[in-house]
Formats: sequence, C-alpha cells, structure tokens
Amino acid sequence: MFKSYGIIGWPLGHTMSPALHNWGFGEFDVEASYAAWPVSPDDLSSFMGQIRTRPISGLSVTIPHKQTVMDYLDAISDRAAQVGAVNTLYWDNDILCGENTDVVGFIAPLRSLDQLPDSALVLGAGGAARAVIVGLKELGVQYISVANRTRSKAKELAEEFKIDCIDWNARMDTPWGLVCNTTPLGMSGDFEGLSPWSADAFTPDMVAYDIVYNPLETRFLRDAKTAGCKTISGLEMFLHQGLAQFRLWTGLDMNETGARHLLLNALK
Ligand code: ATR
Repeated sequence: MFKSYGIIGWPLGHTMSPALHNWGFGEFDVEASYAAWPVSPDDLSSFMGQIRTRPISGLSVTIPHKQTVMDYLDAISDRAAQVGAVNTLYWDNDILCGENTDVVGFIAPLRSLDQLPDSALVLGAGGAARAVIVGLKELGVQYISVANRTRSKAKELAEEFKIDCIDWNARMDTPWGLVCNTTPLGMSGDFEGLSPWSADAFTPDMVAYDIVYNPLETRFLRDAKTAGCKTISGLEMFLHQGLAQFRLWTGLDMNETGARHLLLNALK
C-alpha cells in the first residue's frame, strides 16, 4: 500500500525535510511520499483527529506544535518526555507514538569526535536547548551549564535538569570543552552575521557546535574555525534527526553520505 508521510508546522516556510525523505524513499524504492502540511494551531485538533482515519504513516512535527501535539498521542518515549517535546510521530501497530529524534540528531556528530569534551555550555534556554541538554546528559558530559539572555529561563532549565546556570555576561569568562549555540543569532534573516560568542574568546581546544544550519557557516562557526576549533554545523543535527525518523518509519538506514550531499546542495 502506498504510504503517506509529511511535516506539520505553522508557518511552515521552507523545509528541507520533504527533499530528504523523498530522496530516501526513492533510494529504496519505497512506495511512499512525504509532503509539507502547514497546519495552524487552531487546526491541529482536527488534523490530529483525521490522522487516525486518513492513513498517514508518520509525521514530522515542528514549531509551534512540538509540545501541544503530545495531547493527541497514545504513547511518548522517555526521551521525548524528558525533553517535553516530540518531533516525530509513528505507528507501533495501532498505537500512535511520539519520539524526539532531535536528541539523537544532536548527539550523532559528537559521537564521531576523537574525544568527548567533559564540559559544555549551552547558549539559549528555549525548546532547542532542552533537546541539547538531554543529549549532553545522555552522552555523559560531566559538567553542563546553560547561559541565557533572560537569566530566569536559564535558572529554570538548570533546576529542572540539575545542571549549572551561568550569567549571560560571564559566559566567556571560563574555558569550555564544548560551546553550543541554540539561540537564533547567526541565522539567515535579521540575525545573520551576529554571534553569541566573541571571536577572541575561542580557544583552539574548544568544540563549537551551532544548531543553526542556514547559513551553513554562521559567524559563530567561522570565528571558531579561524581560532582553530573543531566545529559542528547544525546541518549535521538536521541530517541525523532526519535519518532517525526515516529509520523509525521504514526500518531502513538512508545513505548518510548521499543524504548529506543532497542537503549541502540544497543549502548552497
Ligand atoms: P527554540 O524553541 O528554537 O529554542 P526560542 O524558544 O525562541 O527558540 O528560544 C530562543 C532562545 O534564544 C531564547 O533562550 C532567547 O533568549 P531569551 O530567553 O532571553 O528570549 C535566545 N535569544 C533570542 N534572541 C537573542 C539575542 N538577540 N541574544 C541572545 N539570546 C537570544
């Protein structure tokens, strides 16, 4: 039977997920297609009602539905519960399940490092920071801290996840093994060219990870590279969260190199 997949979000804007998953289906001759479905918050309830009658085999979920969609599911994974958000829906027989593949997406490129940093600073305290913190804890990073422009939000996260909270103005005062940007600073549009880190505050032993993937090389990553740091682009997190979704839906491993090539071309 032909299978239907898609992504819901609002406003959906441009998303690379259809290109990625449709390429994967093509690679394996899977009879399926993946579409972009803009669903407004007001329409989420009726959409989620239809999902059980209209045969949708799996869904990617993005902003602003990552939390609210959980009310419509039969089960959520421990990981999604920890993050407090899902980005993937799949069926386990007749049970509609929610997973958060952002966590494994975030972790994957860190697992490829020769040595895992033992300290990490997370910049920002929004939804993305939650998945990053869960990932760092899952990896076993010993010292994890969060810094945010609005200190109260960092403090709340630090208390919930039992990590440290650093003052935003003091974020560059101590050395970190890994610094991860989860703020929109550097993103194409209004934030392009901005960075949450001073160029002269990078040291060569640091790993700089930006979860922003458009542009491919943010100012944060460019400055880090110039300082001799190892850098990880948000494209890797996006790629690996997508590979994990594809695996959940089809049981198949998409060709990682081919998929990366596809995304790199789409972002050029
Ligand atoms: P997401 O869910 O994608 O993580 P978000 O919830 O809007 O997005 O979070 C964005 C984070 O980036 C927030 O922590 C925000 O800080 P505030 O809590 O102070 O709003 C941070 N952020 C946004 N713009 C910023 C800026 N110009 N400088 C520093 N931090 C910024």
